[in-house]
Amino acid sequence: MPPVVDPNSLAAFVDPLPIPRVAKPIATRRDPSSAGKKLPLYRIPMREIESKVHRDLRSTRFWSYGSSVPGPVIETRSGEGFFVDWPNELPERHFLPIDHTIMGAEKDKPTVRTVVHLHGAKTPPGSDGYPEAWYVPGKSATYLYPNDQEAAMLWYHDHAMGINRLNVYAGLLGLCMVRDKLEDSLHLPSGEYEIPLVIIDRLLTLDGQLYYPVSKRPEAPWVPEFLGNVILVNGKLLPYLDVKSTKYRFRLLNASNARFYRLSLENGQTFAQIGTDQGLLPAPVEVKVLTLAPGERADVIVDFALAEPGSKIILHNDAVDVMQFRVGSGTPAESHPLPSTLRPVMRIPEQSAVRTRQLTLEEFDNVLDEPDTHLLNGARWHDPVTEKPVIDTTEIWSLINLTDDTHPIHLHLVRFQILDRRPFDVSEYLLKKTVRYTGPVYPPEPNEAGWKDTVRATPGAVTRIIIPFEGYTGRYVWHCHLLEHEDNEMMRPYEVLAESG
Ligand code: C2O
Ligand code: CU
Repeated sequence: MPPVVDPNSLAAFVDPLPIPRVAKPIATRRDPSSAGKKLPLYRIPMREIESKVHRDLRSTRFWSYGSSVPGPVIETRSGEGFFVDWPNELPERHFLPIDHTIMGAEKDKPTVRTVVHLHGAKTPPGSDGYPEAWYVPGKSATYLYPNDQEAAMLWYHDHAMGINRLNVYAGLLGLCMVRDKLEDSLHLPSGEYEIPLVIIDRLLTLDGQLYYPVSKRPEAPWVPEFLGNVILVNGKLLPYLDVKSTKYRFRLLNASNARFYRLSLENGQTFAQIGTDQGLLPAPVEVKVLTLAPGERADVIVDFALAEPGSKIILHNDAVDVMQFRVGSGTPAESHPLPSTLRPVMRIPEQSAVRTRQLTLEEFDNVLDEPDTHLLNGARWHDPVTEKPVIDTTEIWSLINLTDDTHPIHLHLVRFQILDRRPFDVSEYLLKKTVRYTGPVYPPEPNEAGWKDTVRATPGAVTRIIIPFEGYTGRYVWHCHLLEHEDNEMMRPYEVLAESG
């Protein structure tokens, strides 16, 4: 491994936090589902760019959507719909280590391949970015996003088979905000008081370049999980943000390959969490330490009127500095009080499920005792499709985690609710394939008790989610959002059927 940057040797909080710009449509296009209606068309090319992550480091090479990491924010309203043309204008050669022994990344495949997925969106299958629907530099795909769903922060990122972890690591990620009337009626902080915080970790070499680690086997460089030495917020290392003495709404996304965050404010202030992956919670939840697994989002309000004017508050990940808020001493701006109720979230009754699936999360080690492959229900990507829910029915998926790690499990197309988590005897399961519970049932944390699209399946526990399959029939995927796992078999196709067959 080349020498890497020591973040403690760099001057902290010298770069202002960048705010990703809002994408502008380039044209309109006919709405295929409604005669006479036109939808905005965006064009967001993938490109190689250079960007400075810190004042005192050389520019870093990234692959980005548009001209920044994260890419431009797509702003839309529930059910309005838009098109995006996603041209691949990347170079012909990849700059990160491809493992050709991984499914879908064999030697006969072009090294630079991309396909875009809008995470959290209710998207027809042909526009969902199926991992095998990748295309090469010089090609493009135009996708339709109807977004017939409630207000939430979604995110787009690469999903190319077998190299997804490298493409996202290179910088292929960005945000999409879906708004709606109910959200408007709450008068939440907006405009300059609503700020996205996209958090990623990276391994930076001394000359400021992205490094992605490799295994000890040159013919199979895949590593079981990536952890970086620096944390970037909106593409900057240890940035600062000037804030006024009032309420701010922060839209957080953990877009890291494998790092989990435990975020807190240095001055002991809490976050009022108002939303999760799929939108608003029923009521704000006070959170001291905010846990975010890869793929998860949190919508939080921080009231800087409660902080000392002129104070500087560091956002921590455990004990590590992430960024700094500088509270201005001017007169506080007017703000609406935070409503005590937000969006009603009806708990889905368990009895409404037509079927329960028991699905294992398993890890298989190689001869050196290193984690090698992780599988969902013992199956590989190319095995026949086994999860075939019927449209407009509800199912319970019991995720039986036989590993020592938490896996953030994500399903495309749908939103779901967490029913509970319950510890069980893993060794007994491995011997007899039966679940014997060893402890009480834990309900979801209050700040997980809304609509989710990514759930932390904790080790040694059965995590149950309840999922209404709505929207479209067709082929989608479900997978672990630790990108190293996802790329190496911890992803499965699933199919929403029109009727049971
Ligand atoms: Cu965030 Cu399958 O994706
Ligand atoms: Cu995993």
